[in-house]
Amino acid sequence: MSLVIEARDLRKIYHMGEEEVHALRGVSFKVVKQEFISIMGPSGSGKSTLLHILGCLDRPTSGELLIEGQNIQKATGNQLAEIRNRRIGFVFQNFNLLPKATALENVELPLIYAGVRRRERRERAEVVLERVGLADRMAHRPPELSGGQRQRVAIARAMVTEPTFILADEPTGALDSKTSAQIMELFAELNAEGNTILIITHDPTVAKQTKRIIHLLDGQIIKDTAGDGVSA
Ligand SMILES: Nc1ncnc2c1ncn2[C@@H]1O[C@H](COP(=O)(O)OP(=O)(O)OP(=O)(O)O)[C@@H](O)[C@H]1O
Ligand SMILES: [Mg+2]
Repeated sequence: MSLVIEARDLRKIYHMGEEEVHALRGVSFKVVKQEFISIMGPSGSGKSTLLHILGCLDRPTSGELLIEGQNIQKATGNQLAEIRNRRIGFVFQNFNLLPKATALENVELPLIYAGVRRRERRERAEVVLERVGLADRMAHRPPELSGGQRQRVAIARAMVTEPTFILADEPTGALDSKTSAQIMELFAELNAEGNTILIITHDPTVAKQTKRIIHLLDGQIIKDTAGDGVSA
């Protein structure tokens, strides 16, 4: 199976005046294509720190991160931006949608950055919005949508560029338990259709719905177990 992510002994030290905070203390793992993984740990375990590194938003103090074999440590700022835009589909807890743009316009946005022409942009945005069950909500603006629908728009936006993997940060954190289960079901379906998905969460209920759980504690992986997620 082809390797999507390879993390080798990632370490992150934050300097707080005289004090050093060891947020990641040697994290290594591999992700192959079409995995459905959660990275789970309690508050302070290093989840956000790891998310920022995997999302190419921050660099580790030491260790190596390879995305599809490309060594991120050696990438320039521009190359990192390119990787973020083209290869990673981000999904956030609070959706991060443009409130004044329609669902369709929100989903088209990454394609504008990618230089895709108007007509193709519109078609691709429509296809993914249909896929996430929002065919009849494309003209709505985020304030006119429910929380679950907003997250579907955000997932459509993450998918529209056909990224190498989807990186979701507490994607159900702002949703009630029923809507949360529906969003996890959608992720499972998208995974079955071939998408590689990584979810960062503190919530064991969410983690259980993925296929593989990487347990983080005090900046280290303490366990790597199978979840209950439906197999493709
Ligand atoms: N910018 C920073 N400067 C200094 N220390 C930091 C910084 N960011 C995080 N830390 C420390 O690094 C450790 C890991 O933090 P991190 O935010 O990655 O945890 P987390 O698992 O995301 O927690 P939470 O579930 O509360 O969001 C914590 O001890 C935190 O205090
Ligand atoms: Mg955090």
